[in-house]
Amino acid sequence: MDNNKTTLEDIISLCKRRGFIYQGSDIYGGLSGTWDYGPLGLMIKDQVKKLWWERFVDNRTDMYGVDAAILMNPKVWISSGHVDTFTDPLVEDLKTKKRYRADHILEAAGFSVSGKTTDEMSAMIKDNKIKSIDGNDFGEVRKFNMMFKTNIGAIESDENTVYLRPETAPGMFVNFKNIQDTFHPRLPFGMAQIGKAFRNEIAPRDFVFRVREFEQMEIEYFVNPKNWESTFEHFQKEIKEFSHDIGLDRDKLHELEVSKEDRAHYSSRTVDFEYDFPIGKKELYGLAYRSDFDLKAHMEGSKADLTYFDEETKERFIPHCIEPSFGLDRTILAILGTAYTVDTMADEERIVLKLSPSVAPYRVAVLPLVKNKEDLVNKAKEIFEKIKNIAGKNGIAKSKIVYDETQSIGKRYRRQDEIGTPICLTVDFDTLEKGTVTLRDRDSGKQEVVKVEDLEGLFSK
Ligand code: GAP
Repeated sequence: MDNNKTTLEDIISLCKRRGFIYQGSDIYGGLSGTWDYGPLGLMIKDQVKKLWWERFVDNRTDMYGVDAAILMNPKVWISSGHVDTFTDPLVEDLKTKKRYRADHILEAAGFSVSGKTTDEMSAMIKDNKIKSIDGNDFGEVRKFNMMFKTNIGAIESDENTVYLRPETAPGMFVNFKNIQDTFHPRLPFGMAQIGKAFRNEIAPRDFVFRVREFEQMEIEYFVNPKNWESTFEHFQKEIKEFSHDIGLDRDKLHELEVSKEDRAHYSSRTVDFEYDFPIGKKELYGLAYRSDFDLKAHMEGSKADLTYFDEETKERFIPHCIEPSFGLDRTILAILGTAYTVDTMADEERIVLKLSPSVAPYRVAVLPLVKNKEDLVNKAKEIFEKIKNIAGKNGIAKSKIVYDETQSIGKRYRRQDEIGTPICLTVDFDTLEKGTVTLRDRDSGKQEVVKVEDLEGLFSK
C-alpha cells in the first residue's frame, strides 16, 4: 500500500487496538476534542519531550526551564491581548443550531479567507448561498473567544473569572523578571516550557490534530532587537533538526511565510512549519517574531520593570522575542502518520510502524520461541536481563526492552511490528545448544544469527 494512502481512520484504529491513544472518557461515549494517551502513546510522547528538552535546554547554556501555573491572574490575558483578540470566526446553522468555523466552511467551498473580517465572511456565505451540511442557512459570522473560563474560589462571579491558558507562552513572559533577578542572564537567553494548553475549539477534528486540551513545547528567546533576524534563522534550522531527531521526513516538512493578515496579533513575522499529515499539508509548528509586544504589554499591565540593561553598551531596552512553538499532539500524529506502513512479508499483509528508534516505545523485544519449555524460558529471561543492562550502559532506559511470551512467535512478530519495535530477539533451541540468538529486523524482516556474547554491541549498530 502506498503510504500516502494511510488514512486517519487507519491510525486511530491502530492506536486504540494497540494502546497508543484512546477516545477521552470513552466508556461515557467520549468528550469531543479530548483524547487519552495509553501506555505506548505516552512512551512516544515522553521520548519526544525528552529529545526536545535535551536539544533546546540541556545541551545549551542559554536556556532556562520553567513550569508555570496553568491558572494565571486574569490581567495577564488582558495585557497579552487574548481577551480581545484570541477568537475564531463562528457561524451557526440557523435550524439545527450546530456551530461551525466560518473560515473552514468557506475554505471547503473553495474560497480564500485570508485577511477577511467577520462581516466579509458573512457576506461571502450569503452571496454564494453556502448552506450547512444539513442544507440549512447560516446566521451571521461572529467572533468566538477560544479561552476556557472558570472561577477561582467559592464564588462564581465576573471578578473571580480565570482562564485556562490557551498557550504556555505567557507563563514565561510573567517570569522574565524572576529569571533576570535570580540568574542575571546576559542577552541573548531563552526560557523553555512544556505543558498543557486549552482552547475551546469550535470544531475539534482530525484525531489529535485539533483538540481542546493539548500540550505545547515552547521557547521564548530574548534578544537585542538588532539580532532578531539571525536568531530567527537559527531556530528555523533547529526546528528542522529536531524534526529529524524524532524521525519525521525532511521531504514532508514545508516552510510557509505567513502573510501579515494571517499572523497572530502579537507577531511581526511568522513561519509555519507545515507537514504532510494523512489529512493533507497542515501546520505542525510555528516560529514567530513577537518583537517586544509581550514584555511591553506586561510591563504596562503589571507596572513591573521588564527592561534589560546592557552592561557593555550601557543601553536599557525591552528585549525582543523569538518564539519557536511546537504542538506535542500534532508531533505524535506526524510521527504515527510517517511511520504507518502496510507491506507484505512472507506472503502476508502486515501493518508495521517504521518508527525511528529514538521515539519507538520499545527498542528490543525479547521472545522465547515457545513458552512451555522451562529451560528455554529461563534462558530468555536471563537474556532479557542482560539486554536491559546493555541498554542501561548505552544510556537507554531499561523500560525500553520488553519481554513477550504470549501467543505464537508469528503473532508476536506482528504485534511488535505494529507497535514499532525495531528489533525482535528470539531465544530458541540453538541458544541452549550453541549460545546464539536470532535478531529480526522490523523493516526488512531479515534475520541474523548472533552469539550471545556479541550482543554487547547491539545498540552501537
Ligand atoms: N505560543 C504560540 C502559539 O500558541 P499557535 O500557532 O496558536 O501559537 C502553536 O500554536 C502550536 O500548538 C501549533 O503549531 C500546533 O502544533 C499546536 N496547536 C495549536 N492549537 C492546537 C489544537 N487545537 N490542537 C492541537 N494542537 C494545537
